[in-house]
Amino acid sequence: MSVVKINALTVPAETRPALEQRFAGRAGMVEQADGFEWFELLRPIEGTDTYLVYTRWRSEEDFQKWQSSQAFEEGHRRAAAEAAVNAPAGSGAPAGGADHGGAGGPGYPGGHGGAGAPAATGATLWSFEVVQSAAPGSD
Ligand code: HEM
Repeated sequence: MSVVKINALTVPAETRPALEQRFAGRAGMVEQADGFEWFELLRPIEGTDTYLVYTRWRSEEDFQKWQSSQAFEEGHRRAAAEAAVNAPAGSGAPAGGADHGGAGGPGYPGGHGGAGAPAATGATLWSFEVVQSAAPGSD
């Protein structure tokens, strides 16, 4: 059964373009990951201000493997470096390379942004199991 992992991002209005640009230039590594099924960056239009990074995986194990992989690190390296550059001196932000101890790691709170980084001020990982799905002509 597939699982859906969503990183829900708090993005101030003024840094929305920065976030979208970062994703426009994303590494494209996730496409190669074993068990990867789908990715979408969802921009909020109505009812919420939260951006969603939607991913779907063949299994929980496949997602966990990707999250602890080199590919995940590559896909986030620039974000981590940027956070480090923008963080105030002595904040303990990573000096490059992703610090992926999970959202809220030292010097990189909240994910998808982090200390001093422009893009987002917070992130929460949501997990779902797919109970039903449909696609055109799949019946
Ligand atoms: C500390 C936590 C995280 C931070 C700081 C972060 C930040 C970012 C940023 C800014 C990008 C755009 C690319 C770039 O600027 O380098 C990105 C890409 C991405 N993020 Fe995250 N993210 C985090 C955790 C997660 C998690 C838990 C997921 C799981 C749903 C996720 C899914 C993705 C995907 C699929 C991409 C595209 C990667 C690719 O193309 O290979 N991120 N992330």
